[in-house]
Amino acid sequence: MPSAKRTSVAGSVSVRPLAEPDLDRADEIFRVAFGTFLGVPEPETFFGTADYVRTRWAADPHAAFAATVEGEVVGSNFAADWGSVGYFGPLTVRPDLWDQGIGRRLMEPVMACFDTWENRHLGLFTFAHSPKHLELYRRYGFWPGPIPHSHLDASLA
Ligand SMILES: CC(C)(COP(=O)(O)OP(=O)(O)OC[C@H]1O[C@@H](n2cnc3c(N)ncnc32)[C@H](O)[C@@H]1OP(=O)(O)O)[C@@H](O)C(=O)NCCC(=O)NCCS
Repeated sequence: MPSAKRTSVAGSVSVRPLAEPDLDRADEIFRVAFGTFLGVPEPETFFGTADYVRTRWAADPHAAFAATVEGEVVGSNFAADWGSVGYFGPLTVRPDLWDQGIGRRLMEPVMACFDTWENRHLGLFTFAHSPKHLELYRRYGFWPGPIPHSHLDASLA
Protein backbone atom coordinates (compact mmCIF):
# COMPACT_ATOMS: atom_id res chain seq x y z
CA MET A 1 0.00 0.00 0.00
CA PRO A 2 1.42 3.47 -0.79
CA SER A 3 2.92 5.18 2.23
CA ALA A 4 0.53 8.13 1.76
CA LYS A 5 -2.36 5.85 2.71
CA ARG A 6 -0.70 4.61 5.88
CA THR A 7 -1.67 5.79 9.34
CA SER A 8 1.28 6.23 11.68
CA VAL A 9 0.75 4.38 14.94
CA ALA A 10 4.26 4.62 16.32
CA GLY A 11 4.18 4.45 20.10
CA SER A 12 0.52 3.52 20.40
CA VAL A 13 0.74 -0.24 19.88
CA SER A 14 0.00 -2.65 22.73
CA VAL A 15 0.28 -6.43 22.81
CA ARG A 16 -1.98 -8.58 24.99
CA PRO A 17 -3.53 -12.06 24.99
CA LEU A 18 -6.03 -12.65 22.18
CA ALA A 19 -9.50 -13.10 23.73
CA GLU A 20 -12.52 -14.90 22.33
CA PRO A 21 -14.38 -11.66 21.39
CA ASP A 22 -11.33 -10.69 19.27
CA LEU A 23 -11.54 -13.74 17.04
CA ASP A 24 -13.78 -12.34 14.28
CA ARG A 25 -11.55 -9.29 13.83
CA ALA A 26 -8.35 -11.31 14.04
CA ASP A 27 -9.73 -13.70 11.43
CA GLU A 28 -10.59 -10.82 9.07
CA ILE A 29 -7.09 -9.38 9.40
CA PHE A 30 -5.51 -12.81 8.88
CA ARG A 31 -7.37 -13.21 5.57
CA VAL A 32 -6.85 -9.70 4.24
CA ALA A 33 -3.16 -9.68 5.25
CA PHE A 34 -2.27 -12.89 3.39
CA GLY A 35 -4.60 -12.03 0.50
CA THR A 36 -3.03 -8.58 0.14
CA PHE A 37 0.52 -9.90 0.35
CA LEU A 38 -0.22 -12.51 -2.32
CA GLY A 39 -2.15 -10.04 -4.49
CA VAL A 40 -5.42 -11.96 -4.81
CA PRO A 41 -8.46 -10.08 -6.20
CA GLU A 42 -10.61 -10.38 -3.04
CA PRO A 43 -8.19 -10.57 -0.13
CA GLU A 44 -10.93 -10.55 2.51
CA THR A 45 -12.12 -14.00 1.36
CA PHE A 46 -8.65 -15.53 1.12
CA PHE A 47 -8.26 -19.00 2.70
CA GLY A 48 -11.96 -19.78 2.13
CA THR A 49 -13.27 -22.15 4.79
CA ALA A 50 -9.86 -22.71 6.40
CA ASP A 51 -10.02 -21.47 9.98
CA TYR A 52 -6.50 -20.95 11.25
CA VAL A 53 -7.23 -18.22 13.78
CA ARG A 54 -10.02 -19.89 15.74
CA THR A 55 -8.37 -23.30 15.71
CA ARG A 56 -4.99 -21.97 16.84
CA TRP A 57 -6.70 -19.97 19.58
CA ALA A 58 -8.74 -22.99 20.72
CA ALA A 59 -5.59 -25.13 20.83
CA ASP A 60 -3.99 -22.83 23.41
CA PRO A 61 -5.61 -19.46 24.22
CA HIS A 62 -2.69 -18.62 26.50
CA ALA A 63 -0.33 -18.71 23.52
CA ALA A 64 -2.44 -16.46 21.28
CA PHE A 65 -1.63 -12.75 21.13
CA ALA A 66 -3.22 -9.59 19.78
CA ALA A 67 -1.65 -6.28 18.85
CA THR A 68 -3.98 -3.35 19.49
CA VAL A 69 -4.04 0.34 18.64
CA GLU A 70 -6.40 2.41 20.76
CA GLY A 71 -8.12 -0.80 21.86
CA GLU A 72 -8.69 -2.09 18.33
CA VAL A 73 -7.15 -5.39 17.26
CA VAL A 74 -4.70 -4.80 14.40
CA GLY A 75 -2.83 -8.11 14.26
CA SER A 76 -2.25 -11.49 15.88
CA ASN A 77 0.24 -14.26 16.37
CA PHE A 78 0.12 -17.77 17.83
CA ALA A 79 2.70 -20.02 19.47
CA ALA A 80 2.48 -23.80 19.72
CA ASP A 81 4.25 -26.07 22.22
CA TRP A 82 5.00 -29.43 20.63
CA GLY A 83 7.28 -30.63 23.40
CA SER A 84 10.85 -30.33 22.22
CA VAL A 85 9.61 -28.35 19.19
CA GLY A 86 8.18 -24.84 19.32
CA TYR A 87 6.28 -23.43 16.35
CA PHE A 88 4.54 -20.14 15.62
CA GLY A 89 2.13 -18.54 13.18
CA PRO A 90 0.14 -17.36 11.48
CA LEU A 91 1.50 -13.88 12.18
CA THR A 92 -0.60 -11.18 10.54
CA VAL A 93 -0.90 -7.39 10.70
CA ARG A 94 -3.54 -5.15 9.13
CA PRO A 95 -2.05 -4.13 5.77
CA ASP A 96 -2.42 -0.35 6.18
CA LEU A 97 -0.24 -0.64 9.30
CA TRP A 98 2.60 -2.72 7.84
CA ASP A 99 6.23 -1.67 8.33
CA GLN A 100 5.68 0.12 11.62
CA GLY A 101 7.06 -2.51 13.93
CA ILE A 102 3.79 -4.26 14.83
CA GLY A 103 4.94 -7.62 13.46
CA ARG A 104 8.05 -7.40 15.62
CA ARG A 105 5.95 -6.53 18.66
CA LEU A 106 3.92 -9.69 18.02
CA MET A 107 7.09 -11.78 17.91
CA GLU A 108 8.02 -10.82 21.49
CA PRO A 109 5.35 -12.82 23.39
CA VAL A 110 5.85 -15.80 21.11
CA MET A 111 9.58 -15.87 21.81
CA ALA A 112 8.78 -15.56 25.53
CA CYS A 113 6.55 -18.64 25.27
CA PHE A 114 9.45 -20.62 23.79
CA ASP A 115 11.69 -19.53 26.65
CA THR A 116 9.10 -20.70 29.17
CA TRP A 117 8.47 -23.99 27.38
CA GLU A 118 12.20 -24.62 26.88
CA ASN A 119 11.68 -26.02 23.37
CA ARG A 120 14.93 -27.19 21.83
CA HIS A 121 14.01 -26.64 18.18
CA LEU A 122 12.00 -23.66 16.91
CA GLY A 123 10.49 -23.14 13.49
CA LEU A 124 7.95 -21.51 11.22
CA PHE A 125 6.78 -21.54 7.63
CA THR A 126 7.23 -18.35 5.62
CA PHE A 127 7.78 -16.89 2.15
CA ALA A 128 11.34 -17.62 1.09
CA HIS A 129 11.15 -15.09 -1.76
CA SER A 130 10.39 -12.16 0.57
CA PRO A 131 13.39 -10.20 1.93
CA LYS A 132 11.05 -8.62 4.47
CA HIS A 133 9.99 -11.95 5.92
CA LEU A 134 13.54 -13.30 5.99
CA GLU A 135 14.80 -10.18 7.77
CA LEU A 136 11.91 -10.05 10.23
CA TYR A 137 12.53 -13.61 11.40
CA ARG A 138 16.33 -13.44 11.17
CA ARG A 139 16.18 -10.85 13.94
CA TYR A 140 14.87 -13.59 16.23
CA GLY A 141 17.45 -16.14 15.15
CA PHE A 142 15.51 -17.94 12.40
CA TRP A 143 17.38 -18.77 9.20
CA PRO A 144 16.01 -20.29 6.00
CA GLY A 145 16.64 -23.95 5.43
CA PRO A 146 15.10 -27.22 4.30
CA ILE A 147 12.19 -28.52 6.31
CA PRO A 148 13.93 -30.76 8.86
CA HIS A 149 11.67 -33.80 8.60
CA SER A 150 14.10 -36.17 10.23
CA HIS A 151 14.79 -33.76 13.06
CA LEU A 152 11.09 -33.04 13.54
CA ASP A 153 10.17 -36.71 13.51
CA ALA A 154 12.97 -37.48 15.92
CA SER A 155 12.00 -34.61 18.21
CA LEU A 156 8.39 -35.65 18.34
CA ALA A 157 9.07 -39.35 18.80
C1 LIG B 1 4.74 -10.23 7.74
C2 LIG B 1 4.00 -9.19 8.56
C3 LIG B 1 3.30 -9.87 9.72
C4 LIG B 1 5.02 -8.20 9.10
O1 LIG B 1 4.36 -7.23 9.88
P1 LIG B 1 4.92 -5.71 9.96
O2 LIG B 1 4.19 -5.07 11.07
O3 LIG B 1 4.83 -5.11 8.61
O4 LIG B 1 6.46 -5.98 10.29
P2 LIG B 1 7.46 -5.03 11.10
O5 LIG B 1 7.25 -3.62 10.65
O6 LIG B 1 7.37 -5.29 12.55
O7 LIG B 1 8.87 -5.59 10.69
C5 LIG B 1 9.26 -5.66 9.37
C6 LIG B 1 10.76 -5.66 9.37
O8 LIG B 1 11.12 -6.16 8.08
C7 LIG B 1 12.17 -5.39 7.61
N1 LIG B 1 11.97 -5.20 6.19
C8 LIG B 1 10.89 -4.68 5.57
N2 LIG B 1 11.08 -4.70 4.25
C9 LIG B 1 12.30 -5.24 4.04
C10 LIG B 1 13.06 -5.54 2.87
N3 LIG B 1 12.60 -5.30 1.66
N4 LIG B 1 14.27 -6.10 3.04
C11 LIG B 1 14.75 -6.38 4.26
N5 LIG B 1 14.07 -6.12 5.40
C12 LIG B 1 12.86 -5.56 5.28
C13 LIG B 1 12.19 -4.08 8.29
O9 LIG B 1 13.53 -3.84 8.65
C14 LIG B 1 11.33 -4.26 9.51
O10 LIG B 1 12.10 -4.20 10.65
P3 LIG B 1 12.41 -2.75 11.34
O11 LIG B 1 11.08 -2.19 11.71
O12 LIG B 1 13.25 -3.08 12.51
O13 LIG B 1 13.11 -1.93 10.34
C15 LIG B 1 2.96 -8.43 7.71
O14 LIG B 1 3.62 -7.87 6.61
C16 LIG B 1 1.82 -9.31 7.20
O15 LIG B 1 0.78 -9.42 7.83
N6 LIG B 1 2.02 -9.91 6.00
C17 LIG B 1 1.01 -10.77 5.39
C18 LIG B 1 0.87 -12.08 6.11
C19 LIG B 1 2.21 -12.76 6.25
O16 LIG B 1 2.97 -12.88 5.30
N7 LIG B 1 2.46 -13.25 7.47
C20 LIG B 1 3.70 -13.92 7.79
C21 LIG B 1 3.68 -15.29 7.25
S1 LIG B 1 5.14 -16.21 7.74
